[in-house]
Amino acid sequence: MSDETSSLPLRDKVALVTGGGRGIGEATARRIVARGARVVIADIRDDLGCAVADSLGPAARYAHLDVTSQDDWRQAVEFTRGAFGNPDILVCNAGIMLSGPFEKASPDDFRRAFETNAMGAVHGIQAVLDPMRANGGGSIVIVSSVAGQVGVEGLSAYCTSKAANTMIARCAAIELAQYNIRVNSVHPSKVDTPMSNSNAVASVVGSSSSPDLPPLGRIAEAEDVAALIAFLASDDAAFITGVQHVIDGAGRLATSTRTTRPGKAGDSAERGPNEDPGLRTKERWA
Ligand SMILES: NC(=O)c1ccc[n+]([C@@H]2O[C@H](COP(=O)([O-])OP(=O)(O)OC[C@H]3O[C@@H](n4cnc5c(N)ncnc54)[C@H](O)[C@@H]3O)[C@@H](O)[C@H]2O)c1
Repeated sequence: MSDETSSLPLRDKVALVTGGGRGIGEATARRIVARGARVVIADIRDDLGCAVADSLGPAARYAHLDVTSQDDWRQAVEFTRGAFGNPDILVCNAGIMLSGPFEKASPDDFRRAFETNAMGAVHGIQAVLDPMRANGGGSIVIVSSVAGQVGVEGLSAYCTSKAANTMIARCAAIELAQYNIRVNSVHPSKVDTPMSNSNAVASVVGSSSSPDLPPLGRIAEAEDVAALIAFLASDDAAFITGVQHVIDGAGRLATSTRTTRPGKAGDSAERGPNEDPGLRTKERWA
């Protein structure tokens, strides 16, 4: 092993990244490999996941995994063990966003959001537990959202399922600490990915070119979130567990001072005639 490789923070680690076919998951898989780990990219979109794995060479493989299926989880973990060894890192990133008013959201909308966003993480943690224990520890990162910490109009199924992620991470962190398994959740505001740029979602949270930006002056790139995840996955974060890591360019801090409400002085000057009065707060969250 060269000196250059031996200094990489994720050298010799084995990772499993769900939803790795695009967006934050793809950026995370690339980052993790660049830091020295080998990664299994898991997704339901085989074409996307295979393409990412192929582009990363022998340090990456692809496995089909629907995070709602416990059978798929068992197979993906077995595949990872066969390809690279017991996983040290699990990134529960796969997620779906359903938009629509609370009163119109069907039980099935809520079920779908919870099955993928919340139960997907529960299944994942349970599936990697034995191999991580056998390794003497590991790091699990659940990709939640700022939307799981604040309510967002029109995103009730998504917000509630992302809030569940927070408590899944906390409870798992408490119970798995005895095995040296750390569990953290990551809470991005809006990130420039296919999810946030889809027409359905843009109609609720605003487009990427929205003028209402956090104090850092831009929305997050997938790579910004990937860098945080890679840090939490590494031994540099050895004493960090059970924490909600917000990554939002200070957008949440700015809300209290910059957001205006309908009917307040200055409101009409700041908002276009067809703009939903609630959108100014929503644009930062996803
Ligand atoms: N984009 C944002 O603004 C934003 C903000 C905060 C949090 N997040 C969260 O980050 C995560 C990634 O979001 P993204 O923006 O990269 O989304 P994306 O839609 O661009 O990518 C999500 C990936 O997950 C995969 N996926 C969906 N359902 C799956 C399932 N059941 N099993 C396995 N894979 C599945 C998709 O095929 C896709 O490749 C999600 O959990 C999302 O809620 C996104």
